[in-house]
Amino acid sequence: MPTKKIIIANLKMNLSLSQTASLARKFKNKFTAFNKGEVVICPATLALCRMAEILKGSRLKLGAQNVFWEENGPYTGETSVSSLAEIGCQYVILGHSERRMHLLENYEMIHKKVAAVVKSEKLTPIVCLGENWKERKTDRRDFVLVEQLWQALSGIDIFGDQQIIIAYEPIWAIGTGTAIKPDEAEYAHKIIKLALNDMFGMQVVSKNFRIIYGGSINPKNVKGFTDLENMDGLLVGGASLKAEEFYKVVKEITK
Ligand code: 13P
Repeated sequence: MPTKKIIIANLKMNLSLSQTASLARKFKNKFTAFNKGEVVICPATLALCRMAEILKGSRLKLGAQNVFWEENGPYTGETSVSSLAEIGCQYVILGHSERRMHLLENYEMIHKKVAAVVKSEKLTPIVCLGENWKERKTDRRDFVLVEQLWQALSGIDIFGDQQIIIAYEPIWAIGTGTAIKPDEAEYAHKIIKLALNDMFGMQVVSKNFRIIYGGSINPKNVKGFTDLENMDGLLVGGASLKAEEFYKVVKEITK
C-alpha cells in the first residue's frame, strides 16, 4: 500500500468558475513545497479544464466528482472516463451520498461506474459509502457498509497496480460541522478492510486499496484522525473551500 496519506478536496457545487480558479491559484501557491502526502482537488465538472491549466507544474492532482459508465454515444449531459483522463484527471469520486440522494444514483449505476473506471485503468475511483443516522442508531452500520461495498465492487477484477480508494463518509456527519469520533471512524474502517479482505484477499487489499474518512473534517478536529490505524487519508468538503484551512488539515494529517 502507498505509505503517503491522500487528502482529497471535494469542492462540490459550492463555487463559481472564477471563484474556483482563484482558489486553485491559492492552492498552487500554498502547496508549492509540499511533498509529504498526495493532494487531489475535485472541482465541478465545468471547472476541470481551467483547474488543470492552473495546477500545471504543481504536485497537486486533479479529480472529477462524477463520470458516466459508457465511453461515448447518446448520453446527454454525461462525461466519459477518457475525456476526464484526456484533460489530466487522475481521480474520480463515485457514489457520493449527495448523488445517491439528489440524483437517485442507485447500486447498479454506481457498480457500472466503478467497473468502467477500473476497466479503463485511466482513473482511480474514490468510492464513497456510509450509513445514515437511522442506520447508525439502529446498529445496522456494519451491515450497511458491507452491503454497499458488495454492491459497488463485487465481480470487479483488479489489474496490476490499479488503485481503488474507499471513502467512508457517514451521511449524518457530512456538512454538520461535527466529525464522528475518531475511534468510531477507526472501527468502521476496520469493518471495511475486513470485508475487502473477504472479497479480494489481503494481498490485493494491501496493495491496491486505501480507506479514507470524510465528514466535517476541519483544522480543529483533524488532530484526532492523525494516528489511526487503517486511516489512509481524508475526503474534505467545506474545509477545502478556503486554501488556508485546507492546508492546515493536510499539514496535520500528514505530520
Ligand atoms: P464536509 O467536509 O463539508 O462535511 O463534506 C464531506 C464530504 O461530503 C466530502 O465528500
